[in-house]
Amino acid sequence: MTPTSRTSSASLSALREEAAGCRACDLWKHATQTVFGEGPAHAQVVLVGEQPGDKEDLAGHPFVGPAGAMLDRALEEAGVDRKKTYVTNAVKHFKFVPRGKIRLHQKPNTPEIKACRQWYERELDLLKPELVVAMGATAAQCVFGKITPINKNRGRVIDLPEGPKALVTVHPSYLLRLPDEDARRREYARFVDDLKIAAALMRKSARAA
Ligand code: URA
Repeated sequence: MTPTSRTSSASLSALREEAAGCRACDLWKHATQTVFGEGPAHAQVVLVGEQPGDKEDLAGHPFVGPAGAMLDRALEEAGVDRKKTYVTNAVKHFKFVPRGKIRLHQKPNTPEIKACRQWYERELDLLKPELVVAMGATAAQCVFGKITPINKNRGRVIDLPEGPKALVTVHPSYLLRLPDEDARRREYARFVDDLKIAAALMRKSARAA
């Protein structure tokens, strides 16, 4: 670990602790805990999801439930080592409505996405990644700071004014929701193709290091 990445790692821990007490919107009131981003301070690729789900809320870690399993499978197939990426969410508290024994996921709204963006901005400030991968509409809204359509923008590297490049793709949960097997296979292959762009960038950076 270089001295710079040691400093960033300590700063990420401090940021995580600060976010644990976040009251910037009301989502903290019913969630178990803030689920902050995770990964090495020197990660070149940041993967951004929507918000923690039921499993993530209980575990306190991003992408450890069914969407996480789908993501892990696609990352592996694309040749991306998840341990070398930083994985985070646009919104860091679980938003849900109780339905009997289950907690039904609710999509975060624009004020909640805006209230939470400070943490994403501060994560990026410390990480200074080369590429941010926005998975799904909420992540794209956070990464671009405005509503950004997925289909029009997906699968190509886009320059962001703040420095890193961005790549837009679908959210892994979208693949889990597709009812027909053909569509699921096709969309999964497209998702893997999108992630291969991140894999190529990581290989290029490793060669340059
Ligand atoms: N979906 C997300 O967007 N993020 C998670 O951490 C889990 C599911």
